[in-house]
Amino acid sequence: IGQSIIYRESLDSTNTLAQQMANQGAPEGTVVIADEQTSGRGRRGRQWFSPPHSGIWMSLILRPELPLAHAAQITLVAAVALCQALSRATGVKAGIKWPNDILFNGKKCCGILTEMHAEFDQIHHLVVGIGINVNIPQADFPDELQSIATSLQAIRGEKLARAEVVRTVLEEFEPLYRRYVNNGGFGSLRDAWKANNITLGNRIVAHTARGDIEGKALDIDEFGVLLMEKDNGEQEKIYSADITVFV
Ligand code: BTN
Repeated sequence: IGQSIIYRESLDSTNTLAQQMANQGAPEGTVVIADEQTSGRGRRGRQWFSPPHSGIWMSLILRPELPLAHAAQITLVAAVALCQALSRATGVKAGIKWPNDILFNGKKCCGILTEMHAEFDQIHHLVVGIGINVNIPQADFPDELQSIATSLQAIRGEKLARAEVVRTVLEEFEPLYRRYVNNGGFGSLRDAWKANNITLGNRIVAHTARGDIEGKALDIDEFGVLLMEKDNGEQEKIYSADITVFV
């Protein structure tokens, strides 16, 4: 992964270019990186703050030969790799908030946006979009992000070389990705995800399409689905949601 790196000074979104390239046959492991994104995308239609010279805005093109049902799990695989890589890069322990946000001290420094393309029930390709706030002084985040976002620079107390961080991320990602492909999904990485998580055992609110569900996060299964215990004692599986964790 990363044998071929496509670099652009400015793109609307690295995910968009990666999708186009994947559709035109770009090989597995191609990485698209931009210094700046003019319409960086986050999950749930949100925007992703992507100023120039300060972050890692990149997308990986992957072609795992797996059933479509396993596609969403790649995001949890990437989360494990990123958590390990960013802990290594800063010397400070990062944590995963289910499903795939990387946090330092409760503030997000990295998000993942996976987009997939299927042919019948097989994965044709995946684009794993990764945004890492690297050299952004805390004061430079817009007001609405101040209380929820942070950067590696803010955590480490000094700037980091972005190329080094990219290298560390790809180094951590490659072996985990091979395990995901060879073992047919996320299951064999579940323990590694759990070892890095800051969600399980805590009180959470899951903001789902059906409304908010409050309770305690109990576990994740081999598909990455979150199991929670609601305040009335019933258990509930959460397939997709944003969550708030109370630590
Ligand atoms: C999220 O947490 O909401 C996901 C954020 C993903 C941002 C990255 S930056 C590189 C890639 N290109 C995009 O437009 N988005 C992803």
